[in-house]
Amino acid sequence: MATRTTAPQPAQGHREPEGAPSEPLPFVGLRAQGERLRQRIEQRLGRVLDHGAYVNGPEIEERERSLADFVGGGVTCVACSSGTDALVMALLEMGIGAGDVVFVPSFTFTATAEVVLLVGATPWYVDVDEQTMNLCPCDLERQIARARESGGGRRLRAVMAVDLFGLPADYSALDEICAREGLELIADSAQSFGAAQGGRRVGALAGLTATSFFPAKPLGGYGDGGAVFVTDAARAETLRSIREHGKGPDRYDIVRLGINGRLDSFQAAVLLVKLEVFGEETSRREALSRAYDEGLSGLPLWLPARREGAESAWAQYTLQVDDRDALRVSLQRRGVPTAVYYPLPMHLQPAYRSDSHPEGSLPVSERLCGRVVSLPMHPYQAAADTERVIEAVRSHFAD
Ligand SMILES: Cc1ncc(COP(=O)(O)O)c(C=O)c1O
Repeated sequence: MATRTTAPQPAQGHREPEGAPSEPLPFVGLRAQGERLRQRIEQRLGRVLDHGAYVNGPEIEERERSLADFVGGGVTCVACSSGTDALVMALLEMGIGAGDVVFVPSFTFTATAEVVLLVGATPWYVDVDEQTMNLCPCDLERQIARARESGGGRRLRAVMAVDLFGLPADYSALDEICAREGLELIADSAQSFGAAQGGRRVGALAGLTATSFFPAKPLGGYGDGGAVFVTDAARAETLRSIREHGKGPDRYDIVRLGINGRLDSFQAAVLLVKLEVFGEETSRREALSRAYDEGLSGLPLWLPARREGAESAWAQYTLQVDDRDALRVSLQRRGVPTAVYYPLPMHLQPAYRSDSHPEGSLPVSERLCGRVVSLPMHPYQAAADTERVIEAVRSHFAD
């Protein structure tokens, strides 16, 4: 049974743990990063003020090139205004709309299902693997069979894999299923930019990859931002047209349905500076995840899974635990913030419910919503703060 949670409430009359530091830790350390990069960012923003091309300025192309170079594998990058718009643009490029079905994991952020509904198609929910928390290839096969049996004249078009919390989905298995079933694979890599699998970086793991540069993401701007990566450069032209209202060779020649999905030059400028330190930040996230793994081993909880051949971007460090609320309350008392991503699966969201997926039909997604809890994770977390988080979790189980 899926549960909703709000911030945990301390029990009546509780006492602060002895010696608990009063200053709470940050969950995401944007301030430390901002201080490090401030001068370089100010210089970059100053250049935008100088040339005055706030939309479609030279930073957009520069950023698209830098991101494509970072990903490698010959991909082309199309910058856009958010991860959500990146997904919408990808679906529009594929011509997905009314009468089409897109398979999506139920345990994900809202946008994954929302965009499918926005273009008029039907999201068909799939359960996730309990350990990786990503789309389960076995359940995908089951759901494809169910969707085919349900008929209704719908066309099964695509699978949208999500790299939840930073670990890439199992693209080898998903690729194989998609090839066999005649479905296209789209990657919702909003949380995994910087991750890799089998020596290939996120952005090059599916024909179309959408990512987000929301501030709290592994590579985050100072506002909304996103990008679509394509392995076939010919698709980039269509995406660029969709990004600007479906324009043709002439700006007011509208040749397809599009959106205003442009990224502004200031955000591109910020991201260009952040990209300079991104490799180092990804390594720091990896080191932090190892420190948590080591410090939290042996406790009655599940640590985040790793998969051989895959490197996570560690957007979040997410545990699974039986009495999550009790753990959250005791961490909060010790000044350690936590977050729950996500308290309700997509198939049970009031706005997205459908008869094909009643409550109880996707048990792993439903169970995870009541068990997951994320710990502070950012590349500038001091070793002493990591120790404090570990100590707080260990003390909870020792109490
Ligand atoms: C899995 C997933 N998909 C899509 C998005 C949407 O990205 P944005 O907030 O940039 O629109 C997010 C954002 O958190 C996400 O986590």
